[in-house]
Amino acid sequence: MRLKRTLYIGELNNNFIGKEVIVSGWVLRRRDHGGVIFIDLRDRTGLLQIVFEEGIDPKIHDLADSIRIEYVISVKGLIRKRPPGMENPKIPTGEIELVATDVEILNTSKTPPFPMDEDLSEVSEAIRLKYRYLEMRALNGLNPFIFRHKVNQTIRKFLDNKGFLEIETPFLTKSTPEGARDYLVPSRLYPGKFYALPQSPQLFKQILMIAGIDKYYQIVKCFRDEDLRADRQPEFTQLDIEMAFVDENDIMNTIEELLAYLFKETLNITLETPFPKLSYETALRDYGTDRPDIRFDMKLKDLSYLFKDTSFKVFRNTLESGGIIKGLKAPANFSRKELDDLTKFAQELGAKGLAWIKYDKNANSFEKKWSSPIVKFFEKSVLEKLEEIFNPLEEFATFFFVADKEDIVNFILSELRNHLAKKLGLIPENKFSFVWIIDFPLFEWDEEENRLVSVHHPFTHPKEEDISFLETDPLKVKSRAYDIVLNGVEIGGGSIRIHKRELQEKIFKLLNISPEEAQEKFGFLLTALEYGAPPHGGIAFGLDRLIMLMLGKKSIREVIPFPKTQRAQCLLTGAPSEVRIEQILELHLLPGWEKKKEKS
Ligand code: AMO
Ligand code: AMP
Repeated sequence: MRLKRTLYIGELNNNFIGKEVIVSGWVLRRRDHGGVIFIDLRDRTGLLQIVFEEGIDPKIHDLADSIRIEYVISVKGLIRKRPPGMENPKIPTGEIELVATDVEILNTSKTPPFPMDEDLSEVSEAIRLKYRYLEMRALNGLNPFIFRHKVNQTIRKFLDNKGFLEIETPFLTKSTPEGARDYLVPSRLYPGKFYALPQSPQLFKQILMIAGIDKYYQIVKCFRDEDLRADRQPEFTQLDIEMAFVDENDIMNTIEELLAYLFKETLNITLETPFPKLSYETALRDYGTDRPDIRFDMKLKDLSYLFKDTSFKVFRNTLESGGIIKGLKAPANFSRKELDDLTKFAQELGAKGLAWIKYDKNANSFEKKWSSPIVKFFEKSVLEKLEEIFNPLEEFATFFFVADKEDIVNFILSELRNHLAKKLGLIPENKFSFVWIIDFPLFEWDEEENRLVSVHHPFTHPKEEDISFLETDPLKVKSRAYDIVLNGVEIGGGSIRIHKRELQEKIFKLLNISPEEAQEKFGFLLTALEYGAPPHGGIAFGLDRLIMLMLGKKSIREVIPFPKTQRAQCLLTGAPSEVRIEQILELHLLPGWEKKKEKS
């Protein structure tokens, strides 16, 4: 390299007028104005207009003439003020330009598969992911990753100041159950044995508390082989935290302080703390979900009691077979086509149907005030009661009802609530609404496996006052767990942990894990619990999700440098890919390896 960069483009300003500099970067745009060549050059920090004037050394001019989009070049020249009228107020270097005296072409480039200076949201994601480096290099493409860097640094600074130690935990390890499938790594040295990639550092961070670390954190990859969605990746990043000698309030307070600091430092947004807390039960009752978006109201109401004597068969049959009826009110009037679409929306999610009643406050007759094919089934008193329940009522409103088993009703209506809020523009922009969900049940019943399973993970401490129900009515036991939800997305979760062996063993037993299996899988934890484990607890954030929401992005793929597709593929490298047969044999993955094992 002959022309060595003297500064970044982003460092330039009017104070450099008249000074000689050398800048290096990529050619975003190139214009030839009858002999005068203009190049917009960019590096990580900014964009600069470069002028190759006609009078320049012809060799340099010829070189400049051969430059194309995305060529990598270094340019030497003098900074000058742009001629009046040629300023570009949109960029920080808009009042200056570089008059080139020398140029070096460091590399050429093929024409990129998409424009580098436009919004790329119309370009297919498959193309963007295959050429991820170009998407990143495109105008503003690095912004999410520069922001992510800032988030990481800010978190580290805060936690370091609070006395947290950043400790690494292994990736080649034993299964750490968080409810997903493990990614396994076959062992070459131990035929038939496997490492598991961690679903989270859960057990190691607990062991670190027993080791006396007291306050731990890590920004760490986790691996889960599960069905993917916009906010799920097979490998993702957690901000993982654990503290000893604390209760749930200590942890929630620390996290609120951390988030308030983070939002202030990176977005200059002041968060209001403390965040509201909702019990799991209230969240389900009012929003139908344990990850409610509380940026808008539109709460669900249980109306089962209202319809208990109804002649509407759908409702009556549901109630008779132990189901429930819940409803919500949308502050709007819908066309028949819209109502059909909403019904289809509910049915595609698994609803049997979607009942609706339209309401017109100022109608001059009762019939006109309430309109719906099913309104004939309802007594006047029932409708008046509806008016009361959903008070205050807008000029126009539409009530939606779902009758089914409780979990189905909650699921459909919570989805419908989010859908309607989006459709009606009820969600305030640039608002960050955090809410803690607390008082979760410790267990739920798994119909398929016919056993109790943990709502969080098996290391979660039951509430002290419920411990006596473990023997008699385990489904009644609540846990010392808490989730944190931002704008309807679960961004984190944690709990106070079990720190006594006997209680941990009791929980394993209730989960139908035999003592032998518990010993085989978690023996190291059970042993460690016998050597002075302090009371402890913690939390983990889905850092990709948090950053996605902070930047207002729709998918975590947009804030992960090299994400996988919904089908768990890396389009850049082509992973997963086939491997050589020798590797497979070496890893004892072909049938017959057991025999080999016996011989050795
Ligand atoms: P949990 O399983 O709730 O808890 O995970 C913590 C947070 O990680 C995020 N998350 C994901 N993000 C992207 N892709 C995924 N596949 C994915 N799965 C989870 C979510 C979630 O809230 N060890 C416990 C934490 C603890 O108890 O301290 C744990 O891992 O935002
Ligand atoms: P049907 O009697 O099945 O034609 O249904 C009459 C109305 O009730 C239609 O608008 C259906 O969409 C609605 N409906 C049917 N089943 C349910 C249900 N389980 N919950 C709510 N509405 C339903």
